Amino acid sequence: VALSHPVRLIVNALGPPPSDVVELAHDRGVKVGALIGSGRHVEAQLRRNVDLLVAQGTEAGGHTGEVATMVLVPEVVRAVAGRVPVLAAGGIGSGRQMLAALALGAAGVWTGTMWLTSKEAESHIDPVTRQNLLAARSTDTVRSKSMSGKPMRQLRNAWTDAWDGPDSPGCLPAPLQGIVHHAAIPRFRAARTADLCGYPAGQVIGQFGQPRTVAELMAALEGEFDDAGRQIVRTLSPSAR
Ligand SMILES: Cc1cc2nc3c(=O)[nH]c(=O)nc-3n(C[C@H](O)[C@H](O)[C@H](O)COP(=O)(O)O)c2cc1C
Repeated sequence: VALSHPVRLIVNALGPPPSDVVELAHDRGVKVGALIGSGRHVEAQLRRNVDLLVAQGTEAGGHTGEVATMVLVPEVVRAVAGRVPVLAAGGIGSGRQMLAALALGAAGVWTGTMWLTSKEAESHIDPVTRQNLLAARSTDTVRSKSMSGKPMRQLRNAWTDAWDGPDSPGCLPAPLQGIVHHAAIPRFRAARTADLCGYPAGQVIGQFGQPRTVAELMAALEGEFDDAGRQIVRTLSPSAR
């Protein structure tokens, strides 16, 4: 399906991409990336000929591992040793965080959560869930198997608490838990049951309490990146202006 669109890049997660899919993409000039959550995932990915790696820390929204971006990115950069570019992901939503990712050795950044409360995203997310995203603080996410059967960072709510609590029968393995969740979620949304309307979201969600346009978010990233860079230059050489 992806290759029937004019795409330049396909990025795979939850394990190395199948070799035949990588070959198919490469035959059409499409680059292939892969998300990883540990330095020990590097070799298996490179054996499949991926063109870039995304080192995604545990702070990230969506399926994620246990290692924080601050520790993971240098670990992956060291293991890759220049063979492919490494992007940093997880906990990046400002120019300051972007600059920090470059300081950790990343060639660039990969973001998700920061776009969820954008004005452009409004029509894609039901109003109750959007309100939960806008109200969330950095402490309001949890890594839980209750949405898909695999650990996924998402808004913490009554659903995640119940499935992860002491009275839970335990989550089903993927994809079965996802089927349970998909069956339930439209009912929660229709009933506007706020404490059951969850969504994948990373810890940076706490930085995005006001709806902004994508253009405003991009301008803020650039401006903060420049400011933070100048501040670091001043720290390194106090005489520089
Ligand atoms: C709502 C949402 C859905 C996501 N779905 C996927 C997905 O289907 N496949 C994937 O590889 N990554 C997925 N991710 C992870 C992103 O690709 C990205 O690595 C992550 O959002 C970066 O961390 P951040 O959320 O702190 O910006 C998702 C993230 C969010 C917030």
